[in-house]
Amino acid sequence: MDRLQKIIAAAGIASRRKAEEMIKVGRVKVNDQVITEMGFIPNKNDVIKVDNVIITKEEKKYYCLYKPRNIISSVNDEHNRTTVIDILPSSLKTERLFPVGRLDYDTKGVILITNDGNFMNEMVGPKSGIEKEYLVRIKGFLTKEEAMQLTEGLQVGKTKYLPAIVSVESIDRKNQSSLVRVIITEGQYHQIKVMFEALNHPVKRLTRVRFGCITIEGMKEGEIRPLTIHEVKTLHELSKNDKILNTPKKVKIRY
Ligand code: URA
Repeated sequence: MDRLQKIIAAAGIASRRKAEEMIKVGRVKVNDQVITEMGFIPNKNDVIKVDNVIITKEEKKYYCLYKPRNIISSVNDEHNRTTVIDILPSSLKTERLFPVGRLDYDTKGVILITNDGNFMNEMVGPKSGIEKEYLVRIKGFLTKEEAMQLTEGLQVGKTKYLPAIVSVESIDRKNQSSLVRVIITEGQYHQIKVMFEALNHPVKRLTRVRFGCITIEGMKEGEIRPLTIHEVKTLHELSKNDKILNTPKKVKIRY
C-alpha cells in the first residue's frame, strides 16, 4: 500500500501537499482513528475517511485535445483568458482534469489532458524522452548549415538543446517563409521559438502535430478524444526512452 497522502491524492481529493496538510490538522481518519503521522501506510482493507467521508479511488482519465490557438494551457488563468479546461464538453468539466505540460497561447496542436498527476510527471519530467513533433512556419529559408546546427544540438546562450530531427517541407518564395518539420525530445520553455529565433528565423506559426504516439490526424481544432489503454501503455513505454528512436512518420494534417 502507498502512504496515506498519496492515497488521498490518488483519490482526486487534493494534491499530495494539500493532503499532507489535511493529515497534519487531523482531518484524516483510518478505521475511525485520527492519523496525524506523516507517511502512515494503511493496510489494504483499512477504511480511510477525509472529513468523515470514505474516500474511493478516482478512475484515471486520459484524453487528447486538439488545442486551438488563443487558448491557455492551464486550469485557471489570472488574466481570464479561455483555458483548455473551459473548452471541454460539459460532461468532462466535473472531472478534475488538467493539461500535461504546456503549449504556448498562440500554438495549436496535441495536448494531453488527464487527472493522473503521476502520468503527467512521467510525460513531461526531465527524464522523459518523449518525441514532440512540430510543423513550424518560419520567416526566411533554413540553410543546410542551420539545419545541421539543429540536428547536432543547438547552443543558445548557456543552453545546449538536444539534437532534433529537421526537414524542410516547403518554401514560400512569395511570402519569404518556410514550413519546417521538427522533432524534439525535450520540452524546454518556448523551445522551438527560441531555437529558430537564435537562427534568425522567427516563428510565425507553430503546430504540435504529435506527442509520442498521439497525433491530431483526423481531428478538428477543439476536438477531444479519450486515449485507448494501448495508447496510454505505449506513452508509458516511450517516456522511458531518452533518445529519438522512432523513424519519423509524417503526420498529415491540413495546415
Ligand atoms: N515550443 C514553443 O516555442 N512553443 C510551444 O508552444 C511548444 C514548443
